[in-house]
Amino acid sequence: MNVFKFSLVTIGLLTLISCENSTTTPSTDNNTGAKKEAILNMKRATDHHSYSKPAEAVVTHLDWNAVVDFESRTIAATATFDLETSDQAQKVILDIRELDILSVQVDGKDSPFNIGEEQEFIGSPLSIEITPSTKKVSITYNTQPGADAFLWVEGSEDANPFLFTQSQAILARTWIPCQDSPGIRFTYNATVDVPKDLMALMSAVNPTEKNPEGHYTFVMDQPIPSYLLALAVGDVEFRSVGEHTGVYATPDLIDAAEYEFAEMEDLLVAAENLYGKYAWERYDLLVLPAAFPFGGMENPRLTFATPTIIAGDRSLVSLVAHELAHSWSGNLVTNSTWDDFWLNEGFTVYFEQRIMEAVYGRDISEMLASLSYRGLVNELSDLNPNDTHLRLHLKGRNPDDGMTAIAYDKGFLFLRMIEETVGRTQFDSFLSEYFTKHAFTVMDTDNFIEYLEGTLLTDQSTRDAVNLTAWIDGAGLPDNCPEIQSERIENVDIAVRNWADGTLATSDLLWSDWLYQERYRFLKSIPSTVTLERLDELNSLYKISSTGNNEVLFAWLEQAVLKGHLASYERLDTFLVHVGRRKFLTPLYKAMLDTDQRDMAVRIYKKARPNYHSVATGTMDELLQFKGIN
Ligand code: BES
Ligand code: ZN
Repeated sequence: MNVFKFSLVTIGLLTLISCENSTTTPSTDNNTGAKKEAILNMKRATDHHSYSKPAEAVVTHLDWNAVVDFESRTIAATATFDLETSDQAQKVILDIRELDILSVQVDGKDSPFNIGEEQEFIGSPLSIEITPSTKKVSITYNTQPGADAFLWVEGSEDANPFLFTQSQAILARTWIPCQDSPGIRFTYNATVDVPKDLMALMSAVNPTEKNPEGHYTFVMDQPIPSYLLALAVGDVEFRSVGEHTGVYATPDLIDAAEYEFAEMEDLLVAAENLYGKYAWERYDLLVLPAAFPFGGMENPRLTFATPTIIAGDRSLVSLVAHELAHSWSGNLVTNSTWDDFWLNEGFTVYFEQRIMEAVYGRDISEMLASLSYRGLVNELSDLNPNDTHLRLHLKGRNPDDGMTAIAYDKGFLFLRMIEETVGRTQFDSFLSEYFTKHAFTVMDTDNFIEYLEGTLLTDQSTRDAVNLTAWIDGAGLPDNCPEIQSERIENVDIAVRNWADGTLATSDLLWSDWLYQERYRFLKSIPSTVTLERLDELNSLYKISSTGNNEVLFAWLEQAVLKGHLASYERLDTFLVHVGRRKFLTPLYKAMLDTDQRDMAVRIYKKARPNYHSVATGTMDELLQFKGIN
């Protein structure tokens, strides 16, 4: 393991050297040339979402000791960082937000510190005076009960309490003071104390059983950026599903999770066959409470996932393929700043579909590709054209604003267009090499273009065909956007048209034969002209409102709101109170607003809001212009 880590890190650092031209000398004798160069290279990175100045002092390792207290909903912790300093270093700056800093030590001695002015989203700089020979800084602090990264889920008669974090994009700083920029990587060790009946898990080597004292130790000896720091504490069990794969879930869900994710090892093997060896040893998945604001989060070694992908029939595993793909695109080669987010997500959607194709066939992956394309086309009309370039400009904004179909689906289509232009064989060897060459390093849009032009797009005619500028810095979808042909989706489109104009009877729909993607597409495409009676007929015949597939249920509930299908409102209410996945919440609340049902939206939101994570309340508060706390 150590040999492996060292070689990859070394490769990573050496790759960085080539871009550097400064002449600063190392500050201490044991600084290797490569390390020195890596620090200098950080000077290039300007991340407008972090105060850190890595050129002066950069963190390389974190020791985190923490005690988790469910009663006060706080964590009392000490974070000790190893530093690499430049020979002029006078201070190290960490990002903090919503943290109570108690004391700071520099190489073991109490030291003064300064907390600068707070900015929205970004928080404050924590400046600590150091000298070029400083090795370690240590911060003792408490988190605040409302810290944005956390969701503390209250226990009940039949469930224990649960805590999970969500660090991406810039929420790590609300639970650990850190250089919270994706361009800065560090290894970490941790000790975490939790209530005795709960297990602690991190984005690190994890336990598979509870410790009777509630004491857990963690090692992550591959360098990761701060947004991949993750902690979960809950009453979970582990089940192995393959040689390198397993699931964690609460007792009520563990059997279902074991069944649902039984094919994880196949996905892992398929991914390795495509783009090279999996770098993180194990790939496990933790099923979180339904309040988790995302579908999945690619925390290294332990994907965090929403329970809403447990459908009982393994139909929603493409989400696992997506998070797994991030083990290469994102976790191994990381977007330099949130303006380069498409390098994480676009590559991941492309890779996800290749995994799906390899395991389940082209029919399925083309259906996903087609939905991705159509989703993008829909969303484009709602987006400011300036936000539809692959390269984003998020300065002064919440990086969360970049989480649109642009990074994901325009990013995917861009890569698919290149694949189609140069041919799959060439494109695949390009991608394998891209991941190997840049493993454990950072990539920004300019460097990617340079690399792409220097490898795949060496001749002018290919460059002209690809038209990088139109994709990277142009609005909308360029003319050379690939056409996605999915016969199955096209047949659904025909069916919905015929059904809507009355030429196809509800009972003649092939609903029972359709996969979830086809059902989802059908529901999403129902035109506004369809009557409430027709919709009700559809539901009575195919029992849609009681489906176990949450994607289909969501699409149904959206239609139900739009058409005023009152019989579904109770289901809508329980769904919104129980599920905190933003991708579902936003369209459902929007549908209520768009149909003059604001009162209902606010009534449900008031009830549901305490269950939601800050990522979701942030968006919904704005959408509903919600000001009251309760
Ligand atoms: N890394 C993202 C989630 C994320 C992005 C969190 C930006 C915070 C800021 C994750 O990999 C993701 O893309 N999740 C998707 C799943 C998907 C597209 C299959 C989600 O949660 O919907
Ligand atoms: Zn993703």
